[in-house]
Amino acid sequence: MLTAVIGLAYGDEGKAAIVDLLSADNEYCVRYNGGANAGHTVVSNGIKHKFHLVPAGAVQGKNCILANGMAIDPFSLYKEQHGLFRSQQELIDLHKPILYISNAAHCVMPWHIVKDMETGSKIGTTNKGIGPCYSDKANRTNAVRMENLKKAIDDDVLSNFFKIDKVLHPTINWGPYQQYKVAAESLSKYICDTGKLLRQLVREKRNILFESANGMMIDVDFGTYPYVTSSGVGTAAIPQACGLPNIKIDRVVGIIKSYISRVGEGPFVTEYVGDKTSLGNKIREIGHEYGTTTGRPRRIGCIDLDLLKETSEISGATELSLMHTDVFNGFESVDYKLDNEIKSIPGWIDHKDSNLTRFIELIEEKIQLKIRIVSYGPDRLQKFFR
Ligand code: IMP
Repeated sequence: MLTAVIGLAYGDEGKAAIVDLLSADNEYCVRYNGGANAGHTVVSNGIKHKFHLVPAGAVQGKNCILANGMAIDPFSLYKEQHGLFRSQQELIDLHKPILYISNAAHCVMPWHIVKDMETGSKIGTTNKGIGPCYSDKANRTNAVRMENLKKAIDDDVLSNFFKIDKVLHPTINWGPYQQYKVAAESLSKYICDTGKLLRQLVREKRNILFESANGMMIDVDFGTYPYVTSSGVGTAAIPQACGLPNIKIDRVVGIIKSYISRVGEGPFVTEYVGDKTSLGNKIREIGHEYGTTTGRPRRIGCIDLDLLKETSEISGATELSLMHTDVFNGFESVDYKLDNEIKSIPGWIDHKDSNLTRFIELIEEKIQLKIRIVSYGPDRLQKFFR
């Protein structure tokens, strides 16, 4: 069975918690788009695990595949993988996640990060070098794929890049070259043809979970262009980004929050501004809505059912998961947008309150999809199924 978990808004919907939960029934967990611009958090048994590149299935010790559609910062991956294997030792003793990195995935290099810092402010990028890396991929100029990372270092091609970079950007620190060398050497044993592996796994009808990064509203084709990221986010992107032509994803779980957040620039119809700014601030504090990757405060607005109806269609969602319902515990009312009008519904005391059920049913009726999982806290156990 093939399952995908897709964020239906602007990212940060809480995908990783659902990936972690669904990993129990899957052997392989695949990240296929973006890079360290994403920040995924899983809380299990009170321990917080943070990921930027490794799929969240790692917490349950699943085989983790980083597919060809990704833009991977080798040194970030090296640090993350070492963090997983060292400081979270208790995890590793229980389960042993195995890593497969696509030979065709592109490397984010230091010059991509410098370029992003110089050019990304209009969009409010995460400065992780994602746009410049994908640009180089399309340009076929300075691009470095995972398969040539080690060779490029051995042949001293990379040091040439670093020298050019030093002329263009005299302030850049020379340290990264050594770091990339260490990362390349350490990661090279995991680099393989993940497309071939995945096609074999699909033929064998294995259970595979695809974890998207970012959210449908910042998909490069379907989002609020140009205020978007540089990769395809939804299920339509999976075949190309994984080397899996003509597959059908059996279950597509669309992730939504009981409000909406956006980080970075770009349109946000239901954003709390003016009189509603303090309500937005309150939700941000209760929901800890600060970027996992950049620490930036997220912009906050009410749930937009018109928008989510559209993104659930574009992403091919077959069901929904509703996250962060506990943020509204004790609120008198909760806003929502429906048919271009902002309305409100009574708030709830906790996840057992029938007012929450009314909110859930309202969403289901508009989006015409069932909410199968409801989250009322960050821990794996703070979820109920419908
Ligand atoms: P980039 O992906 O770093 O190029 O950033 C492009 C836009 O997407 C910016 O507005 C970022 O804030 C936003 N963005 C990228 N990744 C994420 C994410 O994982 N969550 C939320 N916003 C993101």
